[in-house]
Amino acid sequence: MNILVTGANGQLGHELRNQLEVDFPGQVLYTDIEELDLTDAGAVEHFVTKNDVTHIVNCAAYTAVDKAEEDKLQCTAINVDAVKNIAKAADANGIKVIHISTDYVFDGTAHKPYSESDKVNPISQYGTSKRKGETALLALAPESIIIRTAWLYSPYGHNFVKTILKRAAEGKELKVVADQIGTPTYAVDLAKAIVKILQSHQWVEGIYHFSNEGVCSWYDFAKAIIRIRGLKCPVVPIPTEDYPTPASRPYYSILNKSRIKATYGVEIPHWEESLADCINRMSKQ
Ligand SMILES: NC(=O)c1ccc[n+]([C@@H]2O[C@H](COP(=O)([O-])OP(=O)(O)OC[C@H]3O[C@@H](n4cnc5c(N)ncnc54)[C@H](OP(=O)(O)O)[C@@H]3O)[C@@H](O)[C@H]2O)c1
Repeated sequence: MNILVTGANGQLGHELRNQLEVDFPGQVLYTDIEELDLTDAGAVEHFVTKNDVTHIVNCAAYTAVDKAEEDKLQCTAINVDAVKNIAKAADANGIKVIHISTDYVFDGTAHKPYSESDKVNPISQYGTSKRKGETALLALAPESIIIRTAWLYSPYGHNFVKTILKRAAEGKELKVVADQIGTPTYAVDLAKAIVKILQSHQWVEGIYHFSNEGVCSWYDFAKAIIRIRGLKCPVVPIPTEDYPTPASRPYYSILNKSRIKATYGVEIPHWEESLADCINRMSKQ
């Protein structure tokens, strides 16, 4: 196998590198925008043919959810046009693609965990662009696998865990939204699921959902981060309306993970267990 991991310097890309170095030594190429700008169709085609790529795991994305509201062109270029470039190159060269998408394709009005066939209705520019990326990929390279994930964090890059730890260390009271419900995803666990798919002898195309197990609000998540790290910092629950942001976010974004568990035998830890692992790693760094 010749696996190309794009967006390799991001949160998921980093963790995937850690896993693939063990499970697929010498079989993986890692690129980020400096080595391969995915918005350049010719460069993508040239790279995959030159390197005889057999699989692409696309971890690259425009992930600044609020900034995307006023940066539609750039967001679309990366989350839609770049995905089309990958899809065309994959289709032309028989490459299998694993692409990452988001719970933000849903509007959050559901009352039970979203399954892959549930109706999408993104309520932000970011969510809209990610949905367009999904449909473009499945139209141009229908054998692709798409994994929708949510509330991703790791010791790398920007994320909620790092923001809360930084603010808590300053000792100030934290006000955190308590009426948006979802499940955090530790990038290590998502990376392991991707490796499991790559190691599997079966390739079952289509959309899958993946997050950690359990359910929480951003407030619960913040409290757990502070407790696990052993910090003392007051956390006050607030409603979404008291924390206005440029982009709307779903109130409910719990994902039903039955399909990925049944198809690939993926075992998923509870979010608090994985959060403890992440914070332990961060405290050793
Ligand atoms: N973060 C979340 O909470 C979350 C939630 C649900 C789903 N997801 C999805 O999960 C996936 C991984 O997210 P992540 O948090 O690991 O993302 P990330 O940390 O933002 O990493 C994305 C990487 O893609 C790179 N990139 C941007 N434009 C590119 C281009 N034109 N060509 C090549 N690379 C480019 C970025 O480089 P620069 O940093 O230089 O821009 C960055 O290194 C994404 O598909 C995201 O939509 C994320």
